[in-house]
Amino acid sequence: MTRHFLEITDLTAGEIDDVLRLSAAPIPSLGHPLRGLGAALIFEKPSNRTRQSMEMAVVQLGGHPVYTRGEEVGFDTRETVEDVTRIMAGYHAVLAARVFDHAVVARMAAVSDVPVVNMLSDHSHPLQALADTLTMVGEFGSLRDRTVAYVGDFNNVARSLAEVCVMLGAHVRIGCPPGYDASDDDLARIDSLGSGTVVQYSDPIVAVAGADAVHTDTWTSMGQEMEKSERMEVFGHYQVNAGLLGAAARGAIFMHCLPAYRGLEVSAEVIDGPQSRVFTQGHNRMHAARGLLAFILGADTAAGSTTDAPSAERTDPAR
Ligand code: CP
Ligand code: NVA
Repeated sequence: MTRHFLEITDLTAGEIDDVLRLSAAPIPSLGHPLRGLGAALIFEKPSNRTRQSMEMAVVQLGGHPVYTRGEEVGFDTRETVEDVTRIMAGYHAVLAARVFDHAVVARMAAVSDVPVVNMLSDHSHPLQALADTLTMVGEFGSLRDRTVAYVGDFNNVARSLAEVCVMLGAHVRIGCPPGYDASDDDLARIDSLGSGTVVQYSDPIVAVAGADAVHTDTWTSMGQEMEKSERMEVFGHYQVNAGLLGAAARGAIFMHCLPAYRGLEVSAEVIDGPQSRVFTQGHNRMHAARGLLAFILGADTAAGSTTDAPSAERTDPAR
């Protein structure tokens, strides 16, 4: 069966554990499932981490990444999403795409007989959530009964993060301004995904109370640039600064998928301070991408079971 990865919920909780184990496994133990094979990486939006980490993960698994800009293939302008996909699926073992409209990756998956990976859409960012989980599990040992706060815009990053946390037994506390928050339907759906829970508040101080990890993301996502000035006003009280982080559990860690805008969603003293794990988190993008690709390509999930040793970046806050 072709395993697509469009959402965190395309994996079970047990499979997420398998992916985390593969992510932490020594690279040689994974073999070279992509030896002699290609992976198409299509980007309709800019990227630093996702492009670099996916290209290196493909190389580490023995394959050849082919970076392609969205304009080059012209989804639904030069040719249909389905035609692009069917052609590329004949060249590559994996197709990955960063798209404006989530429907594009869904349409790719509908016609592809090789795995399709969502590298960020307007709806979700599941590869980021895997790296976030790898980082928090490296820090805490497990997410079970941990409290994870997310403050800011309930966006693609927030949705995937909340999903994986509830699936793995964490209690998620969201702090968002009205109008930029999770819908009741989304909250109910996420709450039902596992043994964890999700609750939402409009007051960011209430949201972070007792949190072991405090996450945020940009207030203006790619594609929302026209709304920037309006968003600056709405989100003004949602900055993660020393005062807000002080309302979390003692020693709570700060996380951000990056790119970050110092002075807006996070103060410089927090993101550059001792509680920040953002560079470990960013480096974990590569380890998580490698683990995910190995998993969907059918790697032996016991590969990482002989060691609890994390990948180099998993717990190191110093870089
Ligand atoms: N976090 C993240 O996806 O970063 P990039 O946009 O740089 O890939
Ligand atoms: N929410 C952000 C994440 C960037 C990695 C965006 O979609 O632009």
